Amino acid sequence: MAKKVVLAYSGGLDTSVAIKWLSSKGYEVVAYMADVGQESDFEAYKKRALKTGAVKVVVDDLKAEFVKDFVFKALKADALYEGGYLLATALSRPIIAKGLVKTAEKEKAGFVAHGCTGKGNDQVRFEVATMALNPTLKIIAPVREWELKTRSEEIKYAKDNFIPIDTTKKKPYSIDVNLWGISIESGKLEDPYYEPDEDIYCLTKGIDKASGRAAYIEIEFKKGIPVTLNGEAMSGVDIILKLAKIAGDAGVGRSDMIENRLVGIKSREIYEAPAGWTLYTAHKALESLVLDRELLHFKEMVSLKYADLVYYGLWYSPLREALDKFIDDTQKYVSGTVRLKLHKGNCSVVGRKSPNSLYKKELATYEEGDKFDWSLAKGFIELWGLPYKGRGKK
Ligand code: ARG
Repeated sequence: MAKKVVLAYSGGLDTSVAIKWLSSKGYEVVAYMADVGQESDFEAYKKRALKTGAVKVVVDDLKAEFVKDFVFKALKADALYEGGYLLATALSRPIIAKGLVKTAEKEKAGFVAHGCTGKGNDQVRFEVATMALNPTLKIIAPVREWELKTRSEEIKYAKDNFIPIDTTKKKPYSIDVNLWGISIESGKLEDPYYEPDEDIYCLTKGIDKASGRAAYIEIEFKKGIPVTLNGEAMSGVDIILKLAKIAGDAGVGRSDMIENRLVGIKSREIYEAPAGWTLYTAHKALESLVLDRELLHFKEMVSLKYADLVYYGLWYSPLREALDKFIDDTQKYVSGTVRLKLHKGNCSVVGRKSPNSLYKKELATYEEGDKFDWSLAKGFIELWGLPYKGRGKK
């Protein structure tokens, strides 16, 4: 009986070639396509996979689960890697791996495969997730193993083997897309001093093209989760899609980074996450209103650790699960509404309100009605400064 492998298939060059390559090594290939909001032409890619030699193609709509169980967990955590990456690609890997493992179990396949290169983070994420979910499955990474060292060699292999690939000249970059955002790398971007052309961006307008009129929006959160946009109740997926359009038109959500990969390399990455940035900004603004100082500051440390775990491929780990319990506990206060102004690349918070607000006007005011006891300040400062009084002076 042929060995059976379930391959995470995107429809692109690498994974198309991988179908043929795996078949030539004696594997029966099931192509698994996860829909995480990348808006691919799944029907066309399904035909392509079958034509290339897959025995079966599975298309799995994971959008709602992706938002609920991955993206919104990261939003509640305020997870941001190295100050600029909202982790769109990194968050999608564990859910795709989960679908891959499930499909392998259903199909009674002993192997799973992915099309990641040998120098990126994604190979780590796919493989560690697979190991955690089902350690009996064997993992094959064709791109790491085959002899095709360059893109042109792959294209030649595809042509020689009659593998249908896109002949139209696509953008000369590596682009990964899902609901939460887009990651763009390689090509001319490999020069860190090179300013990207406007046409690399897919979701956001440049400052010059963005509307001159500010867009005002209102987002309501319940326990850390966005539930309405401009007063209208919507699913998480719809809030993200609607916001991506509004914020993208205003030029919000771009970042250009030199980033530290887990595998030790620094790389140039361009990200677009218009909905992500808006929700992240709004969520933090609401937290600043309802969380007390100690909880807020401690949570900031947790956010950094959480982002590292997601980035490093440790989604299915006891620490991530434990941190989620802590974060969920903090989110019981995070209900309320945030108003934002989106204009020419800026995403500014202009208002926030919550039934759990800890802001007390009678304590903060410099006007009539001040209830703050000024006389307490003197003694407080005396004791606070005591350890430092005359420090170093004999
Ligand atoms: N550097 C990002 C990460 O490791 C994105 C990787 C995928 N990017 C791409 N353009 N294929 O999460």
